[in-house]
Amino acid sequence: MKYLSNIFTTGAVSQTPLRVLRYIQKQLPKSQPQHIIELGAGRGEITQKVIETYSNGSQLKFDAFEINSTFATELQSSFPGIIVHNHDAVSFPSIVKNPVDLIICSLPLSFLSKKDRTLLLQNMRNQLAPGGEIIILFHAVWLLWELNHTFSDAKVKWFRHFPPYLLLTYSSNLPDQ
Ligand SMILES: C[S@@+](CC[C@H](N)C(=O)[O-])C[C@H]1O[C@@H](n2cnc3c(N)ncnc32)[C@H](O)[C@@H]1O
Repeated sequence: MKYLSNIFTTGAVSQTPLRVLRYIQKQLPKSQPQHIIELGAGRGEITQKVIETYSNGSQLKFDAFEINSTFATELQSSFPGIIVHNHDAVSFPSIVKNPVDLIICSLPLSFLSKKDRTLLLQNMRNQLAPGGEIIILFHAVWLLWELNHTFSDAKVKWFRHFPPYLLLTYSSNLPDQ
C-alpha cells in the first residue's frame, strides 16, 4: 500500500526522503532513551532509523501509533520488537500513561481539527519526561506559529522540497539540581 492512494489520511504524496530521514537520525538523543513513542509511524521509515540508532537497546520500549490498519500490520511485522497500536494518535495518553523520553510525530497535523491538534500538542508536552526530546516532521508552514507557541525555544529546520518539509526539535530542560 502506498501513501499517495491514501492521501486524505496520510497527508503524504510519497515516503519521507532519505536526506530528511538521515537528518532526523542525527537529531536523536545520543544516549539511548528508555521509552519512545512514534505518532503516525506509517510503514516505518523513521522507525527504521530509530531502531538502527539504538540497535544495542534490548531494553528499549517503543510504542508506535498508526491509524491505517494495513500500514499498522506491515509495521508490526517489519519491527516485531516494538508495540504497534492501530489507534488514533491524538489520544495516545489513554494507552501510554507514563512519561516518555522521546516523542516523534509525523502526523498530518493540518488535517486535524484545531481542537484535536491543540490537545495532541499539549499531550505531547505533558507526557515528555524531564530532559526528553520531541521531534515533529510536518509540511504545513502556516502551523509554525502554533507549534512555536507550544514549544518555545524549539529549533526548526526547513528542507527544500515540494511540499516543503519542516522539522521541529524541542528539548525539555532537566530540573535544576
Ligand atoms: C505523513 S505520513 C508519515 C509516514 C512515515 N512516518 C514517514 O515519515 O514517512 C503520516 C502517517 O500518519 C498516519 N495517521 C494519520 N492520522 C493519524 C491519526 N489520527 N492517528 C494515527 N496515525 C495517523 C497516516 O496513516 C500516515 O501513515
